[in-house]
Amino acid sequence: MDATKKIITVFGATGAQGGGLARAILADRGGAFAVRAVTRDPGSAAARALEAAGAEVIAADLGDAAAVARAMDGAYGAFCVTFFWAHFSPERELAEARTMAETARAAGLQHVIWSTLEDTRRWMALDDPRMPTLMGKYKVPHFDAKGEADQFFRDAGVPVTFLLTSFYWDNLIHFGSGPKPAADGTLDFVLPMGAAKLPGIAAEDIGRCAHGVLRRGTEFVGRTVGIAGEHLNGAQMAAALTRALGREVRHLDVPPEVYRGFGFPGAEDLGNMFQVKRDFNDVFCAARSVEFSRSLNPQLQSFAQWLEANAARIPLD
Ligand SMILES: NC(=O)c1ccc[n+]([C@@H]2O[C@H](COP(=O)([O-])OP(=O)(O)OC[C@H]3O[C@@H](n4cnc5c(N)ncnc54)[C@H](OP(=O)(O)O)[C@@H]3O)[C@@H](O)[C@H]2O)c1
Repeated sequence: MDATKKIITVFGATGAQGGGLARAILADRGGAFAVRAVTRDPGSAAARALEAAGAEVIAADLGDAAAVARAMDGAYGAFCVTFFWAHFSPERELAEARTMAETARAAGLQHVIWSTLEDTRRWMALDDPRMPTLMGKYKVPHFDAKGEADQFFRDAGVPVTFLLTSFYWDNLIHFGSGPKPAADGTLDFVLPMGAAKLPGIAAEDIGRCAHGVLRRGTEFVGRTVGIAGEHLNGAQMAAALTRALGREVRHLDVPPEVYRGFGFPGAEDLGNMFQVKRDFNDVFCAARSVEFSRSLNPQLQSFAQWLEANAARIPLD
């Protein structure tokens, strides 16, 4: 590794967000940054691919503060992200975010990017009857915990940019969010948001935008920046899917209360999430400018561009 480069400790480097950032830094050969890729398993194929591409790979589990400290030691910056869907625990996200914030402070990092989402309880009291309170004190657990954790980074006094991410279009491939066959042979794309727009993004573009934030130095330190590749409603996404798949896709606008009852793990959390995005659509979309995202990442993809490269990977059964 080039010792003149500034090391960025990338948590989740074998995953979607961190992987996008690691690849963006590694592709920028003449750039100022080097990648320290954090993984629990340096022997995995994904970790070895990063190493082969020029990353330093280091083993750490976010639950192990001493290992997190080793991962940040001597680094210039860090990309911090937590993994709700691996454990479904907002408390664990809070604990891991606190560890990263306090460790970043102790290590003297000069720029931390915290991959966050809104604490939706800013918009709705817990006794608000529009949607149920979940796990005792959350409306959208995987949003609220990340937003609540923003304060750990402020309290620690680390130079931090808060990065508000968007719904990955890759969820259509990996998260069961793709169109499903209906009895009449057409495909139904479930999105419980009525005509409201869903800010979406190619997961790979999140890391590229984060790279753009790092390249702009301290410009965004202390600020919240939101990113999206395009804002589309369910009918527009269904139309784009119809064109890309060559099969009719209909938008199925189930009510959020029906979605919450689907019964898969996380259905209530996601039902509330889509309802928040619908009911607070203006403020939610305004926080995620596509134009701004493109200024950070000129390769930013639209939904149609993402579909052109990925439609064949969407399972349709
Ligand atoms: N899906 C969406 O639309 C969406 C949108 C916005 C935000 N998010 C948020 O994105 C977060 C997940 O990020 P992602 O999608 O980039 O994750 P991901 O693709 O699932 O990958 C996460 C990587 O992190 C590592 N990891 C998991 N647990 C770890 C631990 N305890 N300590 C250290 N490393 C660990 C794993 O690597 P190893 O196995 O190599 O250790 C894994 O490859 C979630 O909190 C989710 O709420 C998702």
